[in-house]
Amino acid sequence: MIPHINDSKEEFVDSEVFYPYEKLNNIKWYDRILLNQPLKITIVFIILGIAVPLLLYHFYFFTALNIPPSDGFSIGSCLIPRETRLACGVGQMPEEECHHQCCYDRNLHMCFHRIPSRFSYIIDQPWSDDIVLHPRIATVPFSNQNSIPQVRLSIDEESATHLAITFYNSRNTSFPSKRLSDKEYSYEVGTPEINIAVNASQGTIFNTAGGPLIASDNIWEIAFKLTNETMYGLGEIPLKKNTTKIIYSNDGDMSSIPLIFAKINTSFHGLLIDVNEPTEILVHPGGQIVVRSITNYGLKFHLFVGPEPKGIMEDVMKIIGHHKQLEYWMLGIHNFENAFANTPQWNLSLVNDNQLYLFKHNTYGNDFAKAFAKKDNSTPIWSSSLWMNGGFAINRQNIDASWTNLHRELIAAALGGISGHWLWSSPICGDTENFNHTTQSNLCVKWYLAATYFPMIKIHSRKYMRYPTAFNGTHRSIIIEALNRRLGLLPYFYTTLQEGPLLRPMFYQFPLSEALHDIDTQFSVGDSLLVVPNLTPFQSHVHMWLPPGTWYELWSGLKLEANEGDPITMMTAEADFLTFIKGGSILIYQKEAQSTAESTQFLTPFSVIIALECTTDNETSVCQASGKQFITKNMSLVFVANDTNMTITADGKDFDPICDIGSGFWAYDIQFINIYGMDEEMNNYDNYRQLNTFVDLCHLETDEEIVVNLLS
Ligand SMILES: *[C@@H]1O[C@H](CO)[C@@H](O)[C@H](O)[C@H]1NC(C)=O
Ligand SMILES: *[C@@H]1O[C@H](CO)[C@@H](O)[C@H](O)[C@H]1NC(C)=O
Ligand SMILES: *[C@@H]1O[C@H](CO)[C@@H](O)[C@H](O)[C@H]1NC(C)=O
Ligand SMILES: *[C@@H]1O[C@H](CO)[C@@H](O)[C@H](O)[C@H]1NC(C)=O
Ligand SMILES: *[C@@H]1O[C@H](CO)[C@@H](O)[C@H](O)[C@H]1NC(C)=O
Ligand SMILES: *[C@@H]1O[C@H](CO)[C@@H](O)[C@H](O)[C@H]1NC(C)=O
Ligand SMILES: *[C@@H]1O[C@H](CO)[C@@H](O)[C@H](O)[C@H]1NC(C)=O
Ligand SMILES: *[C@@H]1O[C@H](CO)[C@@H](O)[C@H](O)[C@H]1NC(C)=O
Ligand SMILES: *[C@@H]1O[C@H](CO)[C@@H](O)[C@H](O)[C@H]1NC(C)=O
Ligand SMILES: *[C@@H]1O[C@H](CO)[C@@H](O)[C@H](O)[C@H]1NC(C)=O
Ligand SMILES: *[C@@H]1O[C@H](CO)[C@@H](O)[C@H](O)[C@H]1NC(C)=O
Ligand SMILES: *[C@@H]1O[C@H](CO)[C@@H](O)[C@H](O)[C@H]1NC(C)=O
Repeated sequence: MIPHINDSKEEFVDSEVFYPYEKLNNIKWYDRILLNQPLKITIVFIILGIAVPLLLYHFYFFTALNIPPSDGFSIGSCLIPRETRLACGVGQMPEEECHHQCCYDRNLHMCFHRIPSRFSYIIDQPWSDDIVLHPRIATVPFSNQNSIPQVRLSIDEESATHLAITFYNSRNTSFPSKRLSDKEYSYEVGTPEINIAVNASQGTIFNTAGGPLIASDNIWEIAFKLTNETMYGLGEIPLKKNTTKIIYSNDGDMSSIPLIFAKINTSFHGLLIDVNEPTEILVHPGGQIVVRSITNYGLKFHLFVGPEPKGIMEDVMKIIGHHKQLEYWMLGIHNFENAFANTPQWNLSLVNDNQLYLFKHNTYGNDFAKAFAKKDNSTPIWSSSLWMNGGFAINRQNIDASWTNLHRELIAAALGGISGHWLWSSPICGDTENFNHTTQSNLCVKWYLAATYFPMIKIHSRKYMRYPTAFNGTHRSIIIEALNRRLGLLPYFYTTLQEGPLLRPMFYQFPLSEALHDIDTQFSVGDSLLVVPNLTPFQSHVHMWLPPGTWYELWSGLKLEANEGDPITMMTAEADFLTFIKGGSILIYQKEAQSTAESTQFLTPFSVIIALECTTDNETSVCQASGKQFITKNMSLVFVANDTNMTITADGKDFDPICDIGSGFWAYDIQFINIYGMDEEMNNYDNYRQLNTFVDLCHLETDEEIVVNLLS
C-alpha cells in the first residue's frame, strides 16, 4: 500500500518512527516523544489537539502499512515538507495511479518521491566508466513502464573548469571518459545507490542528493541541486523557484540555450543541459532542479566551475561554437521587406519617402535568414529555433507587443549574450498581429529607444505598421533620433562584440557586487555603458542601483553621487532611455548618423567621450581613462587619457580601412571631444568640457602616437 495521509486524523499512528529523522531537525523532539510509550499516552491529547494540525499543515505526512523494501537499500522517508517534495511521475493523480514506491498525499492528491528516492540506480562496486548501473525498481512511475535495465554513467573531465556528466542507455557499449590531472573540481559517486556530488572552491556545486534517477524507453528524469542560493537563466533574472520551462518548443518559449548560472556567495557556477529532445526543466520550490526529457538516449549535463560568469560563458562557447563573421552592416537597422536581399539596411532617407517602398512586407521568420544569407553569399547564419549552436545568430519570433515583453526581450538578450549568443536579434514592438497602433504608440517608442542597445534589431511590418514613418509628430522624431543614436554608437558596439556580449545582466558584469545580482531592470552595454530603462507606461522616475566605480550620465556628463549598491531615484521622461558611462572609459562614437550603418561608419567623423576616473593619491588628484576602437582584425586604435592629454596609438599597421581613399570604409578623423570629471573650472558646459578639434588619425601611419592637448 502506498503510504498516504490518512483522512481521519484521529487514527493517527506513525509506523515509520524508525526513519532517519535527524535531517529534519524541527521534528526531532516529536520523534522522541513517539518512541516513549508512557509519555506518548500523556501527550497524545496535546498532540492531537495542537501539534498534529500544526505539523500536518507543514508536513502532511502519512500513516499506514508501509512495507520496507526487501532489497536492503535505503527506506526513504515520506516525511518531507511540502515545498521540497518532488513529484513522482506527473505528481497530481488519483491514489491508484501513484506508483507504490512513492508517497501519496490524499489532501493534495499528490504523488511524490521519498527522500532518498527509491527510484535510483544501483552499483555494487566503486564507480568507473564501464560499470553497469541497474535500476533499483523494475518499473518507473510514468505509466509503470519498465526501467531501462542497464545504464552507464560517464563523467568527463573536459577541462580544468568543465565537467560533463552523462547517463546513457548502454547494454553493451561504454564511452571512455577523459581524465585530467589538474582540475578545479572534485567529485564523488556514491554507492550502492548512485549519487553524484561535485565540489569546487566555492562549495558543493552539484549534488543529486538522493533525488530520483528514472530511465525508461521514452522518458528520463533526474533531480539535483546546484546551490542553496540564487540561480539565473532560462529567461529569468533571478530564476524564480516553482517555475517550469519547456525547451525545444519552437513556439513562443525559449529560443536560447538552457544554461543556468548558480551562485554561492559571490562565486558562480554554470550548468548546461545538453539534450536534443523536448525537455521540461522544473525549478522546484525547494531549490532542486528536475529535468525530465522525452529521450531514449539519456541525459547529459555540462558543469562549469566559474567562478566568474565570464569564465562560464567562455567554456560554453567552447562547446557551442561562435559565429565569427560579425560584419558592420549586420548591426544596422533591418527592415523586413522583399527588396531586403539587395538593400538590407533601413535607409533613413526613406523616412520622408511617401512611396510604398515600405509596404511590401514579407512573411516572417526565415526570410530574414535567407535575405541575410544572400547578402552574405554564404550558408544561412540565422536561426529562429536555436539549439546549442553558437554558429547561428538568434532571430527572436512570435513576440507580442507589450510592456512585459519589452522587459522580457531585454532580459532574454542579456542572458542570451552571456550564454554565448552574442548576435541576438529582436523585433521592435514585437512581430505578431497582436499590436494596436493607437494604444501602443508609447510602448513602441520606448521599444525603439531600447533597440538602440540590442545587438541586432529588425522591424516587422507585415499587417501592422511599426516602421518609423508609421508614427506621427513627436513619436516619429523620437524614434528616428533613437535609430540615429544607434548608428552613432555602432563603433562602440562593433568593438565590444569582438570580445564579448553587448547587453549584459548585472550579475555578469559585477559578480562581486552582491547587492546588484538580482536586478533585472538595468543592464550593462559592454564594459563602459549602463542603461536604466523606464519600462512601464507614463513612468516619471526610475530607480537605479549604482554599480562600483564612478558613473556619469552619458550625454550630459552629470556625475552620479552615491555609494556602490545604493538605490538612486531619477526623473525620466517618455523620450528618455537613461544611459550612463563608467569613469575610466573612453567612448568612440559618431555624432551625426548618415542613412545607413555603413555610410555613417565611413562619412561621419569620430567623436570621443572621455569619462575620467579620478583618485586622490597623496593629496594630488590622478585621473585616467582608456578605450579602444576595433578597426579590423589587424588593427585597433588605442586611446589613453588623463586630465590634460589624450594619447592615441595604433595596435597594428592595417591603415587602409581608415586612410585609403579607394578602399577605406572607416572615418579617418576626430572632431569633438567631451571630457567628464574634470575640475569644474575647466568645464565650458554645465557638466563637461568640450573640445572642438580636428585630429587626423592617419598621422599614425608615420607617427608613433598622437597626443591631443585637452586643455587647449
Ligand atoms: C549490443 O550487442 C549486440 C550483439 O552483440 C548487437 O547486436 C547490438 O547492436 C549491440 N547494441 C549496441 C547498442 O551496441
Ligand atoms: C565536498 O564538500 C563536502 C562539504 O564541504 C564534503 O563533505 C565532501 O566530502 C566533499 N566532497 C568531495 C568529493 O570533495
Ligand atoms: C545546502 O544547505 C544544506 C544545509 O544548510 C547543506 O547540507 C547542503 O550541503 C547545502 N547544499 C549546497 C549545494 O550547498
Ligand atoms: C507553485 O506554483 C503553483 C502554480 O503555478 C501553485 O499552485 C503552488 O502553490 C506553488 N507552490 C509553491 C510552493 O509556491
Ligand atoms: C560566504 O561568505 C561568508 C562571508 O563572506 C562566509 O562566512 C561564508 O562561509 C561563505 N560561504 C561559502 C559557502 O563560501
Ligand atoms: C537611401 O535611399 C535613397 C533614396 O532612395 C538613395 O538615393 C540612397 O542611395 C540610399 N542610400 C543607401 C546607402 O542605400
Ligand atoms: C485599438 O484600440 C482602440 C482603443 O482601445 C480601439 O478603438 C481600436 O479598435 C483598436 N484597434 C484595433 C485594430 O484593434
Ligand atoms: C498621423 O497623421 C495623419 C494625418 O495627420 C493621420 O491620418 C494618421 O492617422 C496619424 N497616424 C497616427 C498613428 O496617429
Ligand atoms: C606620499 O607622500 C609621502 C611623502 O610625501 C611619500 O613618502 C609616500 O611614498 C607617498 N605615497 C605614495 C603612494 O606616493
Ligand atoms: C591580417 O594580416 C594577415 C597577415 O599579417 C593577413 O593575412 C590578413 O589578410 C590580414 N587580415 C585583414 C582583415 O586584413
Ligand atoms: C598626462 O599624460 C601625458 C601624456 O601621456 C603626460 O605627459 C602627462 O604627464 C600626464 N599628466 C599627468 C598629470 O599625469
Ligand atoms: C599635455 O597637456 C599639457 C597641458 O595642456 C601640455 O602642456 C603638454 O604639452 C601636453 N603633453 C604632451 C605630451 O603633449
